[in-house]
Amino acid sequence: MTKLAGKTALITGSGRGIGRALALKLASEGARVVINDLDADPANEVVEIIRKAGGEAVACVGSVTAVDFAERFVKTAVDNYKGIDIIVNNAGYTWDNVVQKMTDEQWYAIIDCHLTAPFRILRAAYPVISAAAKAEAAAGKEVFRKVVNVSSAAASGNAGQANYSSAKAGIIGLTKTMSKEWGRLKVNVNCVAFGHIETRLTEALAGEASKTVDVEGRKIKVGIQQSFIDAMRAMTPLGRPGTAEEAAGSLYLFCSPESDYISGQVIVCGGGFGNV
Ligand SMILES: NC(=O)c1ccc[n+]([C@@H]2O[C@H](COP(=O)([O-])OP(=O)(O)OC[C@H]3O[C@@H](n4cnc5c(N)ncnc54)[C@H](O)[C@@H]3O)[C@@H](O)[C@H]2O)c1
Repeated sequence: MTKLAGKTALITGSGRGIGRALALKLASEGARVVINDLDADPANEVVEIIRKAGGEAVACVGSVTAVDFAERFVKTAVDNYKGIDIIVNNAGYTWDNVVQKMTDEQWYAIIDCHLTAPFRILRAAYPVISAAAKAEAAAGKEVFRKVVNVSSAAASGNAGQANYSSAKAGIIGLTKTMSKEWGRLKVNVNCVAFGHIETRLTEALAGEASKTVDVEGRKIKVGIQQSFIDAMRAMTPLGRPGTAEEAAGSLYLFCSPESDYISGQVIVCGGGFGNV
């Protein structure tokens, strides 16, 4: 018996890293998954893996920051699977600089991706979730739906990340507010803040050979300095970075029925590091 049979999950940024690992986990538990990523190839690859394993998945490619994205994402779920049960706001990247060198463009790009996009997605999902919750209440049924937002240990402050840490602190406020607004709809709204997880986002920068996020016509280098990777490892009580699968496991807790009576909470998945 799979735990999430019949549920539809929408996961942003699920072509790679933590989102990808979560998509595979949710699909293995029977969920139908709407895969989003900026990049078509990794998104389609995840869809293929899920389908080959006998699951159901569909891609909705594009930047979460596009003004029409939220409606398109919700429509993809409704057109293909008739509803929404789980939304995970995970897509993201970093574009760092100290505050005196940070441009407005840099500030808004990161706020838009990590905070405005989740807000728009939840707003667009409201009519679908509300109609389903009302019909279930009228039938005397209590069905829990799940929103999981992704924050970071950086939410409590990280030099060079004024934009990212502000967005990741903001998503905690959005989580707590939505848990209050949507409790009557039986939606659990929670948040996971990650410490150091080994993904493309936290690979060592490799100068000109660094990987890039190609978003809104810009190419932003992703990765962090090796000295920061070493410092993070030293500060992590469990002694190593987490894997994408371990990180996905913490998101999965909030997607599963075991969290039906938990809402408005933030947990830190950081091997003992991080305190938001
Ligand atoms: N890795 C860590 O140590 C760490 C720590 C704290 C928080 N996080 C957060 O975890 C989330 C997942 O990151 P990850 O570590 O798996 O990184 P990742 O780079 O491996 O995966 C992120 C995915 O999101 C996609 N993406 C980026 N911007 C997008 C956009 N505008 N629209 C659609 N897709 C977009 C990327 O293409 C990529 O496939 C992010 O929100 C990140 O801020 C990660």
